[in-house]
Amino acid sequence: MKAIILAGGEGLRLRPLTCNIPKPMVPIVNKPFLEHMLDNLKRHHIDEVILAICYLPDCIQRHFGDCGDLGMSLTYAFEEMPLGTGGAVKNAEQFLDDTFVVFNGDIFTDLDLTDMIRFHRYHKAKATIALTPVEDPTAYGVVETDSQGRVRCFIEKPSRETVTTNLINAGTYILEPEVLDLIPPGVHHMLERGLFPDLVERGIPFFGYRSNAYWIDIGVPEDYLKLHHDILMGKAIARFPGKSIADDIWLEDNCNIHPSAKIVGPVVIGQGCTVEQGARISGPAVLGAKCTVGQGTIIDEAILWQNVKLGKDATVRNSVIGNNSVVGDSTWVIDGSIISDDTAIGSSNRLEHGIRIWPGSTIEDNAISF
Ligand code: GTP
Repeated sequence: MKAIILAGGEGLRLRPLTCNIPKPMVPIVNKPFLEHMLDNLKRHHIDEVILAICYLPDCIQRHFGDCGDLGMSLTYAFEEMPLGTGGAVKNAEQFLDDTFVVFNGDIFTDLDLTDMIRFHRYHKAKATIALTPVEDPTAYGVVETDSQGRVRCFIEKPSRETVTTNLINAGTYILEPEVLDLIPPGVHHMLERGLFPDLVERGIPFFGYRSNAYWIDIGVPEDYLKLHHDILMGKAIARFPGKSIADDIWLEDNCNIHPSAKIVGPVVIGQGCTVEQGARISGPAVLGAKCTVGQGTIIDEAILWQNVKLGKDATVRNSVIGNNSVVGDSTWVIDGSIISDDTAIGSSNRLEHGIRIWPGSTIEDNAISF
């Protein structure tokens, strides 16, 4: 069976992390998100994948090529203009001749795809949508089904008073090629607002597959951090680079860790990192390749991308710092702050309250003070 991964969105809610790379390429424990998705597909014996790309497509194509290295065949369906989730699938129609699976390229899940395919076939469905329960469905598109699992309706962001189910669209669909006849070619179309309500209206067999598998949408920074937390705490399963050198500590090659540095797992440290005297790293935390943690600096539940340089006596807590960024001595980056790529933050600053710093920014010493 072939799979399409929708990987063309701009990822505006995850900005500034998605200014230079598309959301499906953001690193999750030192490996692009899409690679984790492909790992999962292989586990379910799906090795023919179509990537529907639009925003920063070169970044994806350059990294994966034809994907021979992963033992998979990868085809790209490129959109000049964003065509939406449905338009993107229609745009890939030429590659589809049998039942296929569609994935949102921002959902991390260990959904039992094999069982979902069995469910789709058992019900002789033309379309099946994965459903996941959430605590507060009012922020999502909820999906009502009847007692047989047949989809009755979609309600976008229902109010608390009207909500009748906590099951939401989990962003994985199995479709038969003939449903593509209902999507107009070459125009913007959303599956959730166009094709799916249309299937219900026409009485075409459309089923909801309920799953309690791990599920998270990495579309906002809080959930990007939460996924790291869950993987490192063992709540979500993922493979990532690095050798286990002690309980809950994984290290790649050529690292230089000062004997007085304290590391309390779960912590993953990428290739060629330096951790200087008296530094302390408390997990869950991830350091990308070639990071430097200065003398006496504290990292606590944070994610550093590649080549991040932290000065002396700095603190980075519950925050993300992008590639090639520099943080000066005694600066604090805390409480959900998001620092993008190529930024230079001077010494003795305090960045907090989910502040977002755009790529290439410079902040002088003492500019945002205590
Ligand atoms: P936001 O801008 O933050 O809403 O993120 P997004 O652009 O990724 O949109 P959303 O989260 O709603 O998209 C869900 C999935 O569909 C993501 O994997 C997107 O990459 C993908 N997607 C959204 N719009 C398009 C599109 O026009 N074309 C393609 N190929 N994929 C899309």
